[in-house]
Amino acid sequence: MTATIPANIAVNSDRLWASVQETAEIGATAKGGICRLALSEEDRRVRDWFRAACEAAGCTVSVDGLGNMFARRAGRDATLAPIAIGSHLDTQPTGGKYDGIIGVMAGLEVLRSLDDAGLQTHAPLELINWTNEEGARFAPAMLASGAFAGAFTADYALSRADRQGVRFGAALDAIGYRGDAALGHPLSAHFELHIEQGPILEAEACTIGVVTGVQSIRWYEARLVGSDGHAGATPMRLRRDALLGAARMIETAHRVAKAHAPDAVGTVGMVECKPNSRNVIPGEVFLTVDLRHPDDAVLARMDAEFRDAVAEIAEMDGLELTLEQTWESPAVHFDADCIAAVREAAAQCGFASRDLVSGAGHDSAYIARVAPTTMIFVPCAGGLSHNEAESATQDDVAAGANVLLRAVIETDRRLSGQ
Ligand code: GLV
Ligand code: MN
Ligand code: MN
Repeated sequence: MTATIPANIAVNSDRLWASVQETAEIGATAKGGICRLALSEEDRRVRDWFRAACEAAGCTVSVDGLGNMFARRAGRDATLAPIAIGSHLDTQPTGGKYDGIIGVMAGLEVLRSLDDAGLQTHAPLELINWTNEEGARFAPAMLASGAFAGAFTADYALSRADRQGVRFGAALDAIGYRGDAALGHPLSAHFELHIEQGPILEAEACTIGVVTGVQSIRWYEARLVGSDGHAGATPMRLRRDALLGAARMIETAHRVAKAHAPDAVGTVGMVECKPNSRNVIPGEVFLTVDLRHPDDAVLARMDAEFRDAVAEIAEMDGLELTLEQTWESPAVHFDADCIAAVREAAAQCGFASRDLVSGAGHDSAYIARVAPTTMIFVPCAGGLSHNEAESATQDDVAAGANVLLRAVIETDRRLSGQ
C-alpha cells in the first residue's frame, strides 16, 4: 500500500449507488421509501448487510453495548485515534432512501475506493453506523451517539421505551446487536455526508453544503386529561374535551414558531387520543412537540411563550396538563479545520458550495462534543425528507462522497504532520 494520494482519486459512483439501492430493499415500502425503525427486524437485516460488506472490505467490525457499529480499517500508525465517517441506517416509519443511508454507504465507498487505489492512511479509519438516530421508535433522537459522547448514560439509553412499552435494551437483545465494545473511544475527527433535507441547495443549483452547525432543538411530551362523555347528551358548556385542548396546543406551537420567523419551526408530530371512539368526548390526549431555532436564546424564549400559552389553554378548557421537556439538543458549531477541509475538497472537485446550518438533528451534533466534526450536505428534490418520496441524484450523492473522500484524506495528511 502507498501513502501517495493520486490527484485524480474518486469514488466509484455506480458501486455507491448500487449499495444505496440494494439496502433500500430492506424495509422497502410500496410508495418507494423505507420503513426500518431502530432495532427492528429490518434494522437487524441491514446491520448484517453492513457488517458483511465492511468485513469484505477488510475491516474489523465491533459493536458497543448500545448497538453502535464500528468498522475499522487499519492505518499506518495504530496509536492514532481513527478518523471516523458516521451516519445511520434506521429510518422514519415513512422514511426515504437517503436520510442517513447515504452517509453510511458513502463511508463504505470511501473505504472501498482507498482499497482500489492501494492507499493506506496514516490514521486508522472508522466507519460508524449509529443506533437510533431518528428517535422515531425510541425518543430522543441521536440517542446512541449521544451516549457515546457522554450526553446520556448507557442505562438511560437502554431504558427508553417505544410506544408499545418495549425497552431499547430488550429490542437490542432481540436483534442480537448488544455488543461488548466499551461505550465511547477517542476519534481524531468525524465526518458525515447527508442530504440537506431542506430546499436551499436545489434552489441555488449548489452541489455541496458545507455545514457549519446544527440548530437548537427541544422535545416535549404533553398529556391533557379531561373527561370522557357522551357525544350526544353532554351540553357543550359541561365538556372537558382533551382533544380540543390538544388542537389549541397544536395551533399554539405553530403560532409561537411563526412569531420567530423566518428561522423558528414548531411541530406536533404524534397525537394519541383516548378512547378514540367517534361518539365519545375524548378524555385524554398524549402529544409530542418539537420546537427548533438556530439560536439557543431565541429557543428559550419560544419555550417560555409556549408554556404560558398552553397553561392558559388547560385552564380555559378545564383540563389537567402535564408538560415535560424530554430532550434538549443545544445549538452546535462545527470544527473550523474540518469545515475548511470540506470547503477545500469541494473546490478541488470543482463543485459549487455554500455554508449551511442544519435544520435537522444529526449524530454529528453529539460527536462534535468529543471530536472535531463537520458534515457535508447534498441536495434532495424539493427539499423533501422524512417522506417516502425523498429523492437525490446519483451524481449528487457521488459528489458528496468525493468531497468526503478528499476531506478525510486531507485530515489524515494534517494528522500525519506532512
Ligand atoms: C432527525 O431526523 C431530526 O432532525 O428530527
Ligand atoms: Mn438523518
Ligand atoms: Mn431523519
